[in-house]
Amino acid sequence: MTADSHRPAPIVRTLPDLRALTRRWRDAGETIGVVPTMGALHQGHLSLARAARADCSRVIVTIFVNPRQFNNPEDLAAYPRTEDEDARKLAPIGVDAIYVPDGAQVYPEGFATTVSVTGLTGMLCGAHRPGHFDGMATVVAKLFLQTSADRAYFGQKDYQQLQVVTRMARDLDIPIEVVGCPTIREEDGLAMSSRNLLLSDRARIHAPVLHEVMAQMAADLRAGADVTTLRPAALARLDSAGFTGVDYLELRAAEGLALLERPDRPARLFAAAWLAGVRLIDNIAV
Ligand code: PAF
Repeated sequence: MTADSHRPAPIVRTLPDLRALTRRWRDAGETIGVVPTMGALHQGHLSLARAARADCSRVIVTIFVNPRQFNNPEDLAAYPRTEDEDARKLAPIGVDAIYVPDGAQVYPEGFATTVSVTGLTGMLCGAHRPGHFDGMATVVAKLFLQTSADRAYFGQKDYQQLQVVTRMARDLDIPIEVVGCPTIREEDGLAMSSRNLLLSDRARIHAPVLHEVMAQMAADLRAGADVTTLRPAALARLDSAGFTGVDYLELRAAEGLALLERPDRPARLFAAAWLAGVRLIDNIAV
């Protein structure tokens, strides 16, 4: 560990300052790990920062609520912003810098480039959030290049995002290793997400039903059932728990995300569902 474990990490707000820091580290032959986030940090993010801390001599956590990946202005406005608390949570991990750029550092005047990954983005969240993955891939490409990191850490909770980012880095020859880390869950099974902060107390009680339904469905799939047979009961259970809509509940190949009826190869069950105005997503290996 290179940083004092209880000293808050310096907050870096401009690209020139970030570059000055990373140049020094590079000149000293140090490896850099980056954890891209939109803030509102929870144990899932902290587990990524810890993984980076264990692997790399320097760790940068980025916090940027990226307007280009929100297809709904209300969703962007409601996204939690908790910078001071985020910095406090990172202090015991001993990260070396928290990069908090403003819009101008990321999208300067005249910015006209979009990174668009085809194939992996036409389904699941891509089908329900138009433009989301273009905005996400564009900002992640920029953060990879701005930080010049050797490794980047992403949670498997956003499994499609992880696939898209891995493809993008490969396709653009960005010399970075994309590391996927396990989903961190609350004790009741709910996948940790910054959006959980938006759930009312009442909705929070019902939120774990999404994972319960998926775990049951995954067990039934492993036992030989197919998706078409299992889906109606799963949807009915979500409906009776108060979920108001299900964007998708699908089995897909773990590599390439082809739609499957049965887990005839390494597969994952994916769901996105609405509870009291909050969109929850989850996925589990089958
Ligand atoms: O997963 C997220 O929080 C965001 O999509 C990311 C990767 C930080 C890009 O804005």
